[in-house]
Amino acid sequence: MKPIQVPFQILEIEDLGELSPEEQKLIEYSRNMTDNAYAPYSGFFVGAAILLENGEIIKGSNQENAAYPSGLCAERVAIFSASANYPGVKIKTIAVSARSDKHLVDYPVSPCGACRQVLVEYEFNQKESIKLLLSGISGKVYLIDKVRDLLPFSFTAEDLG
Ligand code: THU
Repeated sequence: MKPIQVPFQILEIEDLGELSPEEQKLIEYSRNMTDNAYAPYSGFFVGAAILLENGEIIKGSNQENAAYPSGLCAERVAIFSASANYPGVKIKTIAVSARSDKHLVDYPVSPCGACRQVLVEYEFNQKESIKLLLSGISGKVYLIDKVRDLLPFSFTAEDLG
């Protein structure tokens, strides 16, 4: 047997000034978008902002429902909206932020497994990496170069033949 190592790197950014003005803006948008979340059941408000290669910015927030599984995470609201409105336009970066009415989220939140699966398919299709900027409502940011880093050995359309 032989181990297969999967390299994974997160860039931890304490000083947001180290990011480009465009990236800083995207984080600001995702943090502001937490105000648009409809999250009466969890009290966990998530915002997402996507930068497309054509310069458009598409935003999303989590939308819950009394029938709990009918709700959708902010990342999927944003990326489905991006694909629905700008089909075929490549996604450069997605910023995700969250806050809670129960505790201070001053640390980066990570996309759930279902969102990783959805994000990785768009990355795979466009043959270009999608950068992630993860943060809480305040505090440090995690920069991850590509979605597939968050979902190694993923199941893709290729497996279906
Ligand atoms: N949520 C997101 O919007 N994105 C994530 O990556 C994690 C979870 C939402 C779903 C639900 O509305 C609430 O946060 C609590 O799970």
